[in-house]
Amino acid sequence: MREMNVLDNELLMRFAPVRSDFPGAERGPYLDVAARALLYARGRAAVDAYLDRSVAGTIDKQALFEKVEQVRSDIASLMRCEPDEIAFTSNVTDGLARFGSSLPWTPGDNVIICEELEHPANIYPWHGLRNRFGVETKRIPSLNGHAPLQVILDCIDERTKVVTVASVSFAPGFRFPVRDLGIECRRRGVLLVVDAAQSIGVVETDVRAWNADAVAASTQKGLFALYGLGILYVRKDVAERMQPTALSRFGVELSDAHEATTGDPRASSLGAAARRFEIGNYNYAGVIAAGESVKLLLGLGPVTVERYVLGLARHFALQVTALDLSVYGGIGEHNSHIVTVGSSLGDDHDATADRDTASLYEFLKASGVRLSIRRNLLRFSFHLYNNIQDIEYVVGLIREWQKRAPALGASQMA
Ligand SMILES: Cc1ncc(COP(=O)(O)O)c(C=O)c1O
Repeated sequence: MREMNVLDNELLMRFAPVRSDFPGAERGPYLDVAARALLYARGRAAVDAYLDRSVAGTIDKQALFEKVEQVRSDIASLMRCEPDEIAFTSNVTDGLARFGSSLPWTPGDNVIICEELEHPANIYPWHGLRNRFGVETKRIPSLNGHAPLQVILDCIDERTKVVTVASVSFAPGFRFPVRDLGIECRRRGVLLVVDAAQSIGVVETDVRAWNADAVAASTQKGLFALYGLGILYVRKDVAERMQPTALSRFGVELSDAHEATTGDPRASSLGAAARRFEIGNYNYAGVIAAGESVKLLLGLGPVTVERYVLGLARHFALQVTALDLSVYGGIGEHNSHIVTVGSSLGDDHDATADRDTASLYEFLKASGVRLSIRRNLLRFSFHLYNNIQDIEYVVGLIREWQKRAPALGASQMA
């Protein structure tokens, strides 16, 4: 993993103008991309233009298809793969389910997963294969907020078909060493499936470097666009050996024919690579919004975006630590753009039993900070529209809270 760089002036200057295209950033610190991002003004303008055409009855369907292909190609550049290796889906769960249910299973095959750290989106689709295909799930215990790489590797047996992991967990927000796992999975002939919901658009999501076989993501978080659009990468060699569970007009090759042409369903060949997993018409508004975001990210450079955002998160983590609050897991290579505060990872998705955590959360929220509670921890998550002033503001508020509530701070926060 790349060492995180501290912020320098040049980087700060480069990102300063970006903020003006995120009007929501002016309403107080928005530190909640791990839930959903602020919508990008240029994305909204592009969707508005599409809606205006819908209202006026001037939609040009061919132009929409061309847009889909252009955005597919830009997303492929962002994820460092070929456009044919990208399918549009509805969300992360949908992408994982389309991929998982289309694999050739034999009863007794297994999937390795660290359920304590995965989002339900990357748990249920695998369990859904049990009754239909006899697929077993092997649960790996987490270790201090990490999915332990060596334990995962030790658990692989001759019936393991898939290992699945989140590139960045939604809580505590640690980066997983995907590349190391990918090398081993490839060597052992096991498929690596990655939930990139939290990394795409923020932390570099290089599917080739990861040696991933399938990667699912969506567009409302790091791609600062809309709900209802998912992205599924499937490596060409893997995809082209697969039969999609649902065969669709959009998943087969019908060359230049109109989309409503039936063709010959008995003789049609499957679409190239991941295209075979597509089903019917697209979420055009979602694609249009995401297209503007990806353009911005490619213009800035994904590595530069990662450096800036992780620099902000690290700066915040250092400031919080200096206030004697506990950054979960400390500061190190595992850090992402998500900083969680507190000392114990709980089970409840969006609740805390700790009165300090609840008190600080309510105080920050009442002061206009947008953030989350996840698994008993306060979750602060950063993106390219954040700046140093956001951090100074929140750190000032935490100081004020500490002064107002001197009795607090003795539990898991310290
Ligand atoms: C790691 C992770 N995976 C998946 C999702 C969402 O899944 P879906 O798009 O299927 O709702 C989230 C957050 O909402 C997440 O944090």
